[in-house]
Amino acid sequence: MLITFEGIDGSGKSTQIRLLKECLRAHGVEPLALREPGGVPLSERIRALLLEGKEEMGSVTELLLFAASRAELMRTLVKPALERGEVVLLDRFCDSTTAYQGYGRGVDLDVIRQVNRIASLGIEPDLTFYLDLLPEDALIRKFSEKSLPLAFGENEIPLDRMESAGLEFYRRAREGYKALAREHSHRVVEIDALRSINDVHKQIVATLRQRVPQLFSASSETR
Ligand code: ADP
Ligand code: TYD
Repeated sequence: MLITFEGIDGSGKSTQIRLLKECLRAHGVEPLALREPGGVPLSERIRALLLEGKEEMGSVTELLLFAASRAELMRTLVKPALERGEVVLLDRFCDSTTAYQGYGRGVDLDVIRQVNRIASLGIEPDLTFYLDLLPEDALIRKFSEKSLPLAFGENEIPLDRMESAGLEFYRRAREGYKALAREHSHRVVEIDALRSINDVHKQIVATLRQRVPQLFSASSETR
């Protein structure tokens, strides 16, 4: 089964994936945890183009590079793992593209849907945890993560190409996530990411216990 984690940068996705991975392992399930963009060598090279590059990039180019990175990850790792019946935890997936390139950059949402369908090989997540956080709160986390004094200005934090897009961009991306959560209310579980790391983890585990109880019994056949 495919479980995705979504939310703006700094909302706690990688922290929660790490905790869930440990928790599932303790129950005898070995999940495959991957991040987007990246996860395999070619996709990591595309990631470097997207995040480290300083060149100006058109929004369609950006969309297609994220899609190319995804297509490669799906083809080589995710699809085969799902076919073997494994649990895959993905740090970002198609909802990121809708939120960032669709709502954030303003690319037509029908185009985004088509590109997402191609890049994902038609595979949809079984469940998505959306960690909701205000961009302002995410920025405060960035300061403490990089151990920067709060006197630092927003423009002085060492940011990657996406993070440099500014607060307004992140506000639009968050609106995109909120719209997705409303539109796909069965698949997307929205969690208040301002709560403590442990509280968020507990909510994720409680949701999984309720929706996929077989994950928590080691003798499980269906994962
Ligand atoms: P993401 O993968 O979504 O960018 P991270 O998991 O890397 O987010 O978290 C970003 C920073 O915020 C890290 O320093 C992490 O320790 C911290 N953090 C994560 N979750 C919480 C939380 N619920 N409360 C406070 N800080 C958090
Ligand atoms: P990353 O450092 O992995 O994100 P985070 O800070 O949340 O851990 O950076 C990935 C960046 O790429 C992030 O800013 C979101 C962006 N992104 C898109 O714009 N579109 C996409 O389709 C994906 C997968 C990511």
